[in-house]
This record gives sequence, C-alpha cells and structure tokens, in this order.
Amino acid sequence: MKLADLVAGQSLPATPPYVMSDEERHEIEHCLHHYDDNRAASIDALKIVQKKHGWVPDAAIAKIGELIGIPAADVEGVATFYNLIFRRPVGRNVIKICDSISCYLTGYDEVREAISAHLRINLGQTTADNRFTLLPICCLGACDKGPVAMINDDTVVNLSPETIPALLEQYK
Ligand code: FES
Repeated sequence: MKLADLVAGQSLPATPPYVMSDEERHEIEHCLHHYDDNRAASIDALKIVQKKHGWVPDAAIAKIGELIGIPAADVEGVATFYNLIFRRPVGRNVIKICDSISCYLTGYDEVREAISAHLRINLGQTTADNRFTLLPICCLGACDKGPVAMINDDTVVNLSPETIPALLEQYK
C-alpha cells in the first residue's frame, strides 16, 4: 500500500486549483543547474511544490514535466516511487509512524492505537480540523529507539501511549 494513497478514501476539504508560482518556477529552474540530466531534478521539483502546497496535485505533475522538459508520466513515476511525496491533500501536520520490525516489537501497536484514539483517526486519515494526518512509514533508521515516528520533519523516539497527548499538543 502506497502511503500517499491512503487518504484517497476519505472525504477531504476542497483545494484551490494548482497554479505554479513564480517562486516555485525559479526554484525549480535553479535546481536544473545542479544536474546534467533534467530527469534528476524531478524529485527536487516535487519537493519544492510539496513544501509550498503541502502535497503535489496532478496539475503540478504536468507543469513540472513541462518546465524541466520530461514527460509528465516520468514525473508521476518518481512521485509514486518516492513515498514522502503526497499525492493527496494532507493535514497541517503529518505523523508518519514506523511499522517496521524493531518498532513493531517495541510497541508500535500500542502507540498507533493511542494516536488513533487521541485524534479519532485511523492510518491514512486526516482529522476533521485538518490538523493531523496519520500515515505508516517503513524504517526511519532509529531502530534502537523504538517505537519511532516522524511528525513533519521531527523524528520522535521512545514513544509510549502515555506520552502521545503531550507530544501532539506541540503541533498546532
Ligand atoms: S524499525 Fe522503526 S526505526 Fe527502524
């Protein structure tokens, strides 16, 4: 299951049509100078769009392809492969909880259940106030500190059900 697709089944707030800003365009064009092959810039371009909009709409895929001179299908392929590119709208804060073996053995289930109970969402869903999206992710490389998750760009370790409310309170 592709994590970015998990939110597909949930009713999400409408989002405005995508228009690439001048700032995005300039940043993407700047990236092209770093690579001999424009294809290599596609992941940077996707990250630039996601940083600005929180996710990558279909229209952005086409626009990126046009801008860097590769087929939109190739950009889509990169977006699909790279599981931190969100192809559906997500909440203001994205919790990615590691479900790989070490975290599984150190309490993944209990922590995931605590998050779900606290936020009233399951994996792949976004809270009604658009504050959090909860997604699974594979190993984050901090296996000796499980259970581990990322909240936005923060890696949070040694999680326990008891610490979840105070932890989530830090993210508005
Ligand atoms: S198994 Fe969870 S961080 Fe490695």
